[in-house]
Amino acid sequence: MFSTVRSRLITIAILVAIAAFSLWPRDEPIGSAFDSWSRGCDALLVMATDRLDRPRLQALARHARAVATYSVGYDHIDLDAATEFGLPVFHTPDVLSDAVAETAMLLILSAARDSSGAEALLRGGGWGPWSPTRFLGKQLTGRTLGVFGMGRIGRALAQRALGFGLRVHYHNRSPLPANGNDSRLTYHSTLESLLEISEVFCVCAPSTPQTRGMLDAHRLGLLPPGAIFVNISRGDLVDEDALIEAIAAGRIGAAGLDVYRNEPRIDPRFLKLPHTTLLPHIGSATTEARTAMGLIVLQALDRWLREGQPSDNCLNPSTLQRRTSE
Ligand code: DGY
Repeated sequence: MFSTVRSRLITIAILVAIAAFSLWPRDEPIGSAFDSWSRGCDALLVMATDRLDRPRLQALARHARAVATYSVGYDHIDLDAATEFGLPVFHTPDVLSDAVAETAMLLILSAARDSSGAEALLRGGGWGPWSPTRFLGKQLTGRTLGVFGMGRIGRALAQRALGFGLRVHYHNRSPLPANGNDSRLTYHSTLESLLEISEVFCVCAPSTPQTRGMLDAHRLGLLPPGAIFVNISRGDLVDEDALIEAIAAGRIGAAGLDVYRNEPRIDPRFLKLPHTTLLPHIGSATTEARTAMGLIVLQALDRWLREGQPSDNCLNPSTLQRRTSE
């Protein structure tokens, strides 16, 4: 509690210190008001729902000295364009990894036991007599979890999954370095070989031009029959038509999803699927993570704007060097 109050006070102090600031006052995304509203600012803090494409970044670069996003993911920002226009982009790594890994475990557990279906039945008044075969789920102990993307969130998930008795395999561009590796984690050099052994599969890789659409019908078809599919990263890594078809046909036995292609307009076919837990992109939504996310980006902007000091949560540090040497 103390740390939350303290964090809020620090946040306000930073905002006041940075300069005059203006806050988009509504809950819904800023949309087309963005251009007029952001005109003339020195720095901009955006949400994952705000798209910073090339034209917007070019316009911003005429007056702004930095951009920050209140998210670890930055697929909504054209980073190459930001770098070309000399705009540093800050984000929120590390501080949300535990919260998102907890959400991944929540989805794995819920999908394995169909807790959403069981709860819906109870709430709908359908709780009949006890039966030894009703709502039979899958025990996790001894099963194999495949983690696609062994970054900070993937590693935080792996540690938790080991505690649940899962065997953990992963695919990443490269294996974890020897000093950061855990001998209990098994590396796969291809996504295909990971999929083939994943009784539970979790998408933790970021959305990039290389990973977008990677989980297509062919690759989803490599999962063992009845596998559990979980996604806490971004919806656009997955071919949703193929996923929906595989769940409806029972080839994928259960799913836990926090992210979708067209958020918040989820494909309505998901709502009808059995054995599927659906969350509205709440991966990092804990008080602790969201407070820390605010602080890390505000502190980075403050250090950069007032003191010209870089922070290591800058996605394109070459822009800092360029601007410092100007
Ligand atoms: C993140 O930080 O990237 C979360 O997914 C919120 O968008």
